[in-house]
Amino acid sequence: MDLFDRDWELNEILRNIERPIIVVTGIRRIGKTSIINVALNEAGIPYVIIDCRSLRDNYGRADLYRLISNALSSSLDKLIDVLRMIRGISIMGNAVEIRWRGKEQVSIAELFDRLNERRVVIAFDEAQRLRGPLSSEVLNALAHAYDFDRNITFILTGSEVGLLYDFIGVEDPSSPLFGRYFHEIVVERFSRDDSVEFLMRGFRELGIDEPRNILEDFVESFDGIPGWLVYAANAYVRGVRDFVEIKEAAIRETMSELENLIRAKANYSTINARRTTLVLRCIATGSNSWTKVTRCVEEFEGVSISPTSLSNVVKALERLSIIRDYQFLDPMYREAAMRLSIPTTIT
Ligand SMILES: Nc1ncnc2c1ncn2[C@@H]1O[C@H](COP(=O)(O)OP(=O)(O)O)[C@@H](O)[C@H]1O
Ligand SMILES: [Mg+2]
Repeated sequence: MDLFDRDWELNEILRNIERPIIVVTGIRRIGKTSIINVALNEAGIPYVIIDCRSLRDNYGRADLYRLISNALSSSLDKLIDVLRMIRGISIMGNAVEIRWRGKEQVSIAELFDRLNERRVVIAFDEAQRLRGPLSSEVLNALAHAYDFDRNITFILTGSEVGLLYDFIGVEDPSSPLFGRYFHEIVVERFSRDDSVEFLMRGFRELGIDEPRNILEDFVESFDGIPGWLVYAANAYVRGVRDFVEIKEAAIRETMSELENLIRAKANYSTINARRTTLVLRCIATGSNSWTKVTRCVEEFEGVSISPTSLSNVVKALERLSIIRDYQFLDPMYREAAMRLSIPTTIT
């Protein structure tokens, strides 16, 4: 499917493509990756997109270099001349190999310096995943390139917006990137009318009579999030005609995302995992203020809870862009949160 709408976002990227860093934020499934793909195709500048989604929490050097190698391999035709000249990089058929240990090792900063010999755009998709043991090395390399590699434009995208800001260190004077200007583009959901138009056009292109009644349900439930609209439309096209069934599948998907999050928290603290679940459930069922969330969680636990610990739980969910102002940013997460089972704590 072609990119629908998003003229403003595309234009914002193209208009700012000479800047050292562009940041693209917005919740998951809002269309960030789709936008940068189209924008970079249109910009006519060689580019690499490094997809950071698969980086595990405490990723190591081998993981990061594998990711960068894969990305460079995908853009090999455009960068082959530059890559050929870099010591420590070898090209094996269609694959780029980067040496990260030993005498000919290539640091991230060196890699940027070499790529800077040509005009290039380097996009880190879901850049908040770069947080971890190597984050200061990556940040120092970005800061170095910001100052010295004027041929490189970086695009950083992030679904977990607070975590991305934490990583970049926007508000942290000790971050290498602190105080540097970067242009931010916030990707918003489709309006109601655009959602209808988007779906109608999609069905029309596939030669399917648009299902008026179900279309209304899609627009109503998925709140202008293109990823869900596409998900629902695809299910319909595959023959699932029951709206509830489609929606349930979407909820199951977000449910497993939330369960993963809670499981990850439980590795550090079972109490935190339990409180996170409670906060999610309370907000999902209408506790839309600090006072109400506190009351709701305390009611459940039967104890008075330290405001600091609860506020940390709320802030963590905000940094993940799951909630803002005690509301879910994606209605599917809200539905999933209502059904979370409360983990027991081990003390
Ligand atoms: N403007 C758009 N036009 C057509 N499809 C879109 C658009 N935005 C998003 N999509 C579809 O929605 C899904 C999620 O979009 P994606 O770009 O992966 O979101 P994000 O990177 O923000 O998580 C993809 O399948 C994509 O094809
Ligand atoms: Mg994406």
